[in-house]
Amino acid sequence: MSVNLKGLVLSGGHGTRLRPITFTRAKQLIPVGNKPILFYGLEDLARAGITEVGIIVGDTREEIIAAVGDGSRFGLRVTYIHQPEPLGLAHAVMVARDFLAEDPFIMYLGDNILRHGVVDIVNKFHEYQPDAYILLARVEHPERFGVAVLDGDRVVRLIEKPKEPPSDLALVGVYIFQPIIHEVIKTLKPSGRGEYEITDAIQGLIDRGRDVRYDIVRGWWKDTGQLHDLLEANRLVLEDLVPELSGDLIESKTEGRVLIGPGSKIIRSHLRGPLIIGENCVIEDAYIGPYTTIQNNVTIRNAEIEYTIVLAESHIESIDTRIEGSLFGRRSRLIRGDRKPRTLQVMLGDQSWVQLP
Ligand code: TTP
Repeated sequence: MSVNLKGLVLSGGHGTRLRPITFTRAKQLIPVGNKPILFYGLEDLARAGITEVGIIVGDTREEIIAAVGDGSRFGLRVTYIHQPEPLGLAHAVMVARDFLAEDPFIMYLGDNILRHGVVDIVNKFHEYQPDAYILLARVEHPERFGVAVLDGDRVVRLIEKPKEPPSDLALVGVYIFQPIIHEVIKTLKPSGRGEYEITDAIQGLIDRGRDVRYDIVRGWWKDTGQLHDLLEANRLVLEDLVPELSGDLIESKTEGRVLIGPGSKIIRSHLRGPLIIGENCVIEDAYIGPYTTIQNNVTIRNAEIEYTIVLAESHIESIDTRIEGSLFGRRSRLIRGDRKPRTLQVMLGDQSWVQLP
């Protein structure tokens, strides 16, 4: 059994589908539940017995390094690997070549969350020792994913975004490779969208007659690369929330599972969980509904909000329409003013959007 299975976590990328948030922040650090997305993957790797992890970083490397540090708090030894340009998932493997050396490795996309982690797939990889082990999930729209064609316990073909999908089994962002993958990656050419694709690398293994096996994920899997999926991941994680009430509840009512951080004041408000309110928040004359995550130092007054993520230090006040399905970046403000005439005034960052009721 090969013992030195390394981890490779991809936390670079442009994150164009989550702009404008990703102009200034790493999408992998957006909290889902009360934890940055990236931490779920790191914890999964630690739980699967992996100790040495390389994290691919790009423009947001400082923020990622500040959040993860040397990895010791996850029980990991973390090495940061800079990818100068996000030229694709297989390119990330190329830049990690020295770190990976001749060891097998598990590659985990830093914006993916798996309900049941990777212990099973790591154990099966050790048992069967295939050249590659991929994870698949049944999806509703396989035409939007890389889709696998199977024969028994082998993968015989991968098709990227097929017009007529041969199955509903999409590739999940977790893969395990033997070092032979580097031989294939060396020969890759950029795809139509200009990226070195990991699906082409796996197909290359298949074309060389190599053993590519699969497993189907148990429980849910989410790729949080766009708003809808990010909110869904938050919903799914909050389904497992363990309630805890710190802070002060003053003339307020809570229903369902609610977690309130220390120093927060909840005044004349109605909280319907599952939801998380961070530390030192002020929630006043407000309704906070299910599947909402609010980070630290947020103020919400005279507003109703649900199925939403609010990053730290934001302020929402006197909004008479319920806010739903939204993401507020750090220090964002949504406030009804009392000036006359009543006009709509905004200062929106590049590529921001607002949908009025
Ligand atoms: P993607 O979501 O496929 O790509 P992206 O982050 O650039 O986002 P978008 O398509 O919206 O522009 O990336 C999956 C994960 O892999 C994510 O955590 C970013 C990371 N990644 C890298 O580290 N290097 C890369 O070259 C690419 C393409 C992605």
